[in-house]
Amino acid sequence: MNRPMPAAAAKGNAEAQLRCCGCQDLQNDPQPDFRCAECGELLEVIYPAWESGRDAWAADLKRVWRERRKSFSLLDGSGVWRYRELLPIVPDMEKVVTLAEGNTPLYAMPQTARGLGMRTLLAKHQGMNPTGSFKDTGMTAAVSVAHARGYQWVVCASTGNTSASMAAYAARAGLKALVLLPEGQIAWGKLSQAVEYGAVTLQLRTDFDGCLRVATELVRRMPMYMLNSINPYRIEGQKTAAIELMEQLDWNPPEHIIVPGGNLGNCSALGKGLLEMHRLGLIARLPKLSVVQAKGANPLYTAVHERGGRSLVPVKAETMATAIRIGNPVSWRKAIRVLEATGGTCEQVSEEEIALAKAEIGAEGLGCEPASAVTLAGLKKLLRSGFVAADEKVVLVLTGHVLKDPDYIMKFHAGQLFEGASELGSELDRRRRPPIQVDADLERVMAVLEKLQGEA
Ligand code: F0G
Repeated sequence: MNRPMPAAAAKGNAEAQLRCCGCQDLQNDPQPDFRCAECGELLEVIYPAWESGRDAWAADLKRVWRERRKSFSLLDGSGVWRYRELLPIVPDMEKVVTLAEGNTPLYAMPQTARGLGMRTLLAKHQGMNPTGSFKDTGMTAAVSVAHARGYQWVVCASTGNTSASMAAYAARAGLKALVLLPEGQIAWGKLSQAVEYGAVTLQLRTDFDGCLRVATELVRRMPMYMLNSINPYRIEGQKTAAIELMEQLDWNPPEHIIVPGGNLGNCSALGKGLLEMHRLGLIARLPKLSVVQAKGANPLYTAVHERGGRSLVPVKAETMATAIRIGNPVSWRKAIRVLEATGGTCEQVSEEEIALAKAEIGAEGLGCEPASAVTLAGLKKLLRSGFVAADEKVVLVLTGHVLKDPDYIMKFHAGQLFEGASELGSELDRRRRPPIQVDADLERVMAVLEKLQGEA
């Protein structure tokens, strides 16, 4: 059975429109940088046909999506396009560019839950996407739009994962890819992916925010399609991770979902997905969606806790979790709206808290990249503050694969990540498992094992 399953009844014929998040103007012929022509705010995709709830359609959708899991077509096999009724952005499905993204596992984290006195802690591992990060779910959507509209070049600024993902999807579609990266600040796993997938890779002497500025100026001058999360179709693709998560939970939302925050596209996307599902009657209540930032890259945290969510003051970002080393997040207004609409909050965590949480996620046999580990580090603080109760169900969104940043791992285990006094010293030491060099001799190997058992 190779043909895609049919759509869930005719109600799926929703027309997608672009609307400014600020002045609410409709902008169906958007500027190349996807900023509102009137007020400069970001655009979002809206579907006027869904404005009034549709509980009857919800049952239909659930049934069709479940049936598609039996299909062998690439489109139905994609954990993004399986939900295409809620993603009517590409009129011709032949133009869809897919690597069978999505379909990411929802794992239990029993050791960590026990340690925290929690009943249920789950991890939605978006690092299990084809290029190893959650970016693939958005990239399949926005590259498909670029392909359908006949663009030849696509471009993005990136801290690494967006560029890896864009390069792969562009290669699949036969498009040329230009990636702008901050020099010396990209983990090897990610940089090598962009190169391997054939992108033109420019390392600019600036940070991520500087790269995004150049990318924005470039698309105003050249016929290149912008693929940062400022592109509202990226957000549409990424929102399907929330749909897949709810389906995995049999449509019973958890109390909390926790995501890392960088440019804040992911939080905006998952929030949009949750709100749409709620409006359409697919879920009966909204989980609280919260964001965690690294202390050295915390503009959303200060916007929420010091400025009542009304304004954002950019910072010069600094963190070893390079994926979220972002000081001037473009989607901050969308993110604040999601926090307000779902009742979530924003937390910040230190570098040591990130490293410890990352090693704990590793010890569950899951692993993730540093930016993803802020979720667990943040959860611990939210439990301490009482924002999360120990008997509530929590889902951490792990955004990137453990192999993205092996340098960080080896430095951590060799005790080279932090210099000087350490607030979590003994806890960090307990997690270190550096490789041990031993002669190829049974006695020596046994001696090492005995020593380790003595220490345990
Ligand atoms: N986690 C990982 C692994 C990331 O790569 C990113 C962002 C985030 C979290 C934050 O997500 O920006 O939607 O708030 N990486 C981007 C990039 C910026 O260029 O790869 P966000």
